[in-house]
Amino acid sequence: MKTVAVIGLKGGSSKSTAALHLAVSAEAAGLSVAVIDSDPQGSAHKWFERREAETPSIIREIDGDAFPRLQGLARKNGTDLLLIDTAGKAETTALAACEIADLVLVPIRPTQFDLETLGTVKRTVRVAERLNQTWVMLAQVPTGSNARRMVEEGEAAIHAYGLQLAPVRIATRAAFAYAMSAGLTATEFEPSGKAANEVAGVYQWVSGLLHLSKQPTGELVDA
Ligand SMILES: Nc1ncnc2c1ncn2[C@@H]1O[C@H](COP(=O)(O)OP(=O)(O)O)[C@@H](O)[C@H]1O
Ligand SMILES: [Mg+2]
Repeated sequence: MKTVAVIGLKGGSSKSTAALHLAVSAEAAGLSVAVIDSDPQGSAHKWFERREAETPSIIREIDGDAFPRLQGLARKNGTDLLLIDTAGKAETTALAACEIADLVLVPIRPTQFDLETLGTVKRTVRVAERLNQTWVMLAQVPTGSNARRMVEEGEAAIHAYGLQLAPVRIATRAAFAYAMSAGLTATEFEPSGKAANEVAGVYQWVSGLLHLSKQPTGELVDA
């Protein structure tokens, strides 16, 4: 089993969106997936309540001290991928999530106010000894003609903080917002749309990093 912590110090940076899209993509690839929703706002949980499908499993737990036990349970239940969605203003919970993660994903909007939180993010992943497993991914990147400059500035800031830049990113697209409010993912809402295509790229990259591929025998390749 692999565990992915999705963290970030700002609310609204696409953490829940990224976690749920990874969860549904992994399920579509044949994996058994669970999501811990540790945000008191419960966005992932509420998304699931709007959802018709009965998966992925969403576990509500805001106490980071419970994460190791939940991780053990998930492993015992045959979960292949555990995602931990965290709140923007919960550094202790984010730290607890990072401590048990194989990969830490930090979605971030390429704006000054958001980028300047990366110093604290870095301290958190350092304390958790996960600096090398942490990737910052640009999210909600505008698609207009000024976007290129925002991407360049965002990438430069991530490098300046000494953090790893994810080779994939997510644009601002209505399909993400529509899908989330319908209890779906963009891949389900508009399978051939641009958002779905981006999600496929993100999943492929994460899946490659974690060697998440399902064998016909049902065994997870853990190379
Ligand atoms: N790439 C995107 N394009 C458009 N809307 C997005 C995108 N990512 C997230 N959103 C919307 O922005 C809001 C915040 O996203 P969310 O994933 O809940 O952030 P967080 O979990 O970091 O607080 C939600 O309403 C979501 O639907
Ligand atoms: Mg959230």
